[in-house]
Amino acid sequence: MLSRSLYVFLSVYIFVSVVYTSAFLVLCPVLAECSSVFALRFPSLADIPFLGRYGAPSGGLMIYEDNADGRSSSGATRLGETDDLAAHLEAIAADSVLSWPTHRISPMSSDELGTASRQYLMPESLFLSKAFSNSMHPMKIIPFFYRASERFDEDDITITTLVTSNRFEVLQNLAKRYDGPLSVTVHLPVAPDLSPLSASSTLSKNLTALHSLLLRSPALAARADVHVVLSPFPRAFNTWRNVARFLARTTYVLLLDVDFAVCTDWRAPVRALLRAEDGEMARRMRAGSAALVLPAFEYVKAEDGRDHKAFPRDKRTLLDLVRARKVAPFHASWAPGHNSTDYKRFYAARPGEIYRVTTYQSAYEPYVIVKRDAGGWCDERFTGYGGNKAACLFDMYLSGVSFYVLSDHYLIHQSHAYEEEARRNERKYNRKIYSDFKEETCLRYLKRFQDEGVLNTSRGYNAQEECRKIKGIGKIVTQLLDDQ
Ligand SMILES: *[C@@H]1O[C@H](CO)[C@@H](O)[C@H](O)[C@H]1NC(C)=O
Ligand SMILES: *[C@@H]1O[C@H](CO)[C@@H](O)[C@H](O)[C@H]1NC(C)=O
Ligand SMILES: *[C@@H]1O[C@H](CO)[C@@H](O)[C@H](O)[C@H]1NC(C)=O
Repeated sequence: MLSRSLYVFLSVYIFVSVVYTSAFLVLCPVLAECSSVFALRFPSLADIPFLGRYGAPSGGLMIYEDNADGRSSSGATRLGETDDLAAHLEAIAADSVLSWPTHRISPMSSDELGTASRQYLMPESLFLSKAFSNSMHPMKIIPFFYRASERFDEDDITITTLVTSNRFEVLQNLAKRYDGPLSVTVHLPVAPDLSPLSASSTLSKNLTALHSLLLRSPALAARADVHVVLSPFPRAFNTWRNVARFLARTTYVLLLDVDFAVCTDWRAPVRALLRAEDGEMARRMRAGSAALVLPAFEYVKAEDGRDHKAFPRDKRTLLDLVRARKVAPFHASWAPGHNSTDYKRFYAARPGEIYRVTTYQSAYEPYVIVKRDAGGWCDERFTGYGGNKAACLFDMYLSGVSFYVLSDHYLIHQSHAYEEEARRNERKYNRKIYSDFKEETCLRYLKRFQDEGVLNTSRGYNAQEECRKIKGIGKIVTQLLDDQ
């Protein structure tokens, strides 16, 4: 009896195996979907845990529902004005779990592996601590604490920015003036041991202020993903910049400071440009080898620049104000910060013109639209003022991203008081880090491009030219080129 059923079983098994294998061999050359129909699956972007989570981030808050029928499809919670936000934060600050598929290729059959072993579960905290390993710790990142209710195309442009707990209000203006998606890092100060969160009255107060801002601002609730960073460090700007970009849900981002006002409607024309079938600029942006600069301006008299509603909405009006000396290039007293934008050329440009930045130098810190995954993340060792933003753009430039100015568009700074005392000390500290950072970054890219054999191509030109300017590195550049 036993041997008979074994015989039947084996026959069926062999039959199925032969059919399966030969179908694979016979059909595969003609079936486009072959590899997904039969066995081996290679990792796709959707397998990466963060992207997987976008569809349904758990634990986050949403101010308005994302469906017409009033039911949230995202698993997000809605809290009212009086709910205990700190307790909610404490609950979702507990580790989430990211899952990595592991069933790619195995020496065993998939039956032996079982379902459970096909996933590796990784604590979110481990993933984030490696992703931000150059930042100061302790730090707790809570991605998507608030989630935008509106949906956007993947090829849209997300404004990424950061805001500190004393300046929430400026966020509201940004969302009012930009009708695309936003990815915002909000820093909330906590004690060094990060706990217990629900007992911190500062945190509680700050969360309530943030929550009521979102309740009051439909534009923010609709378009902004808000990521919370809890840490005792008040000015880790580059870390917060990276968090906002890292968690942006579109292919392109505008790296912006929150106190700049968007004045013109660049979203539609830039999206059209990015989608263009032909055209060198579109190709470069899509390849992540170009970034588009939005020139930055400010009011000469600080009190004129407080009300963003009075800012000029077209270039002609802007030019009138520049001629009347009411508006000037941003921080003109520190020329290297923005003058590579070449304001004279901007004033004279014809409509639609996009021109290349030809006088880049290492202090240049423009606001740029760039591919999210292009080079140039912000070095997280910088904290506070001085060189921190320039470091982001230096890395970007060396990685092979060149800058092009959008001559129909511009940004204007909304005046506010600066924290001058903190800035003086930070400048000294950062100046030293910046000079070391430049050397290191140069060596890293020069070596990489030489090993790839692209040092003397358009990809390597930026690194080649910029690094030659550094004492002691120029010689190395010449040597590397000779060795090619
Ligand atoms: C956050 O808390 C700090 C400390 O109590 C306070 O100075 C600050 O104004 C708070 N921010 C908001 C927006 O409530
Ligand atoms: C920018 O300013 C620096 C320092 O003042 C000057 O040397 C340089 O020529 C300026 N560049 C442009 C493009 O105006
Ligand atoms: C680098 O490329 C330029 C132009 O393509 C060429 O003139 C030059 O000789 C090259 N240099 C080296 C060291 O190969």
